[in-house]
Amino acid sequence: MKRAYLADLLDFTAAPAWGERESLTVRWRPAHWLLVDGSGRIVAVQPEAPGPDWVHDRQPGRLLLPGFIDCHVHSPQIGVLGSWGSELLDWLNTYTFPAETAWSDPAVAARGTAHFLDALLAHGTTAAAVFPTVHAHSAAALFEGAAARGMRMIAGKVLMDRHCPPGLSDDPADVARAERDCVDLIDRHHGRDRNAYAVTVRFAPTSTPAQLAMAGALCRADPTLYMQTHVAENRAEGRWVAELFGDARSYLDVYDRVGLVHPRALLAHGIWLDDTDRAVLRERGAAVAHCPSSNLFLGSGLLDWPRLQRQGVAVGLASDVGGGTSLSMLRTLAAAYQVQALRAGLAEATEPRLTAWVALDAATRGAAAALQLGHEIGRLEPGLMADFTLWDWQATEVDRERQRLARDLHERVFAWLTLADERHLVGTWVGGQPRYARTP
Ligand code: GUN
Ligand code: ZN
Repeated sequence: MKRAYLADLLDFTAAPAWGERESLTVRWRPAHWLLVDGSGRIVAVQPEAPGPDWVHDRQPGRLLLPGFIDCHVHSPQIGVLGSWGSELLDWLNTYTFPAETAWSDPAVAARGTAHFLDALLAHGTTAAAVFPTVHAHSAAALFEGAAARGMRMIAGKVLMDRHCPPGLSDDPADVARAERDCVDLIDRHHGRDRNAYAVTVRFAPTSTPAQLAMAGALCRADPTLYMQTHVAENRAEGRWVAELFGDARSYLDVYDRVGLVHPRALLAHGIWLDDTDRAVLRERGAAVAHCPSSNLFLGSGLLDWPRLQRQGVAVGLASDVGGGTSLSMLRTLAAAYQVQALRAGLAEATEPRLTAWVALDAATRGAAAALQLGHEIGRLEPGLMADFTLWDWQATEVDRERQRLARDLHERVFAWLTLADERHLVGTWVGGQPRYARTP
């Protein structure tokens, strides 16, 4: 089937500079056609309508974006969204570990995973780096569910073997058992469909040194594997890591010294890193997943994003549900602006604020680059997968009035991403297939 979509196309050709509202990296193609053939890839973008052998889908005045990429999210945590009253470590023990323990039942994990993947699509997210639970079946369910929906998935069984409830722990006396679970999942899913395996260390406090060493060895044995974990999210967490790993130079060093920090490593948060840590991330080519709504909700801290950018560390945006408060990458982008505004305001810094361009890029092209997937996703370009979303500019009278008053493209897009959410989403396509359509 050859289909062509008429809409206003927006994407980025390179990283926009911090603070620049007029940027040559912004590719704005109003009233253009996106052509998708039976391969599920984009074959052309053009101003003129294609010939009669193409099915025409006219969506004039609507915004067409690359599918969002969520660089860090937890599939079993939809049920802990909006849990009151805790900071990170208390929140994990009170809400999150019990919710994840329930996924020891494969039927519960299967139902929850299907719900989670459909929810991603209903928020315009077509690719994600996901933490399931410690149970191998929860990772298998993600890979199988993503394949059934054509989605781009990076995931792996969570590794954790201490400081957690028994129902959520690998056996610390048998590190080889968790390793076998990983190898089996790698053999069955890594590089199949659109799945890639990530060695998934929950965070340093919940892995014994022996398990961390095993995870590092897996990465060294196969450089095509991803690695995902949490780092330097919260101050009490940082103190705990320093107590547990007194011989490490820093929290990041706990991972780095066993070989977990490499070009396919994705580290969530990174708020409390120091200059040496940032230099290590840059040298290794590893990326930070910035989780602004989670950082606000759990009171973890305010990421200095421009400093990471200045030091050459790649940053991708992430919802971090359920520490984060929404699967919507638009809500996440709006939170990212607020985090930068608050940080600069408290420091009385004169630096420019986060632009719509830097924000949107970090949830599309920039996220794809951070995941080394720029050849496949993140832009509206011939040869890339046709993972895209269609949006209304306005869903309410307030939106309409605000859009009417916008004076230039940046103002229009920034106001849109500040006000909009998943109710503005008209549809989501993955590999050219419609996978979500708003009910009229
Ligand atoms: N650190 C370790 N586990 C988690 C988690 O599930 N969520 C967040 N935000 N931080 C973590
Ligand atoms: Zn997380």
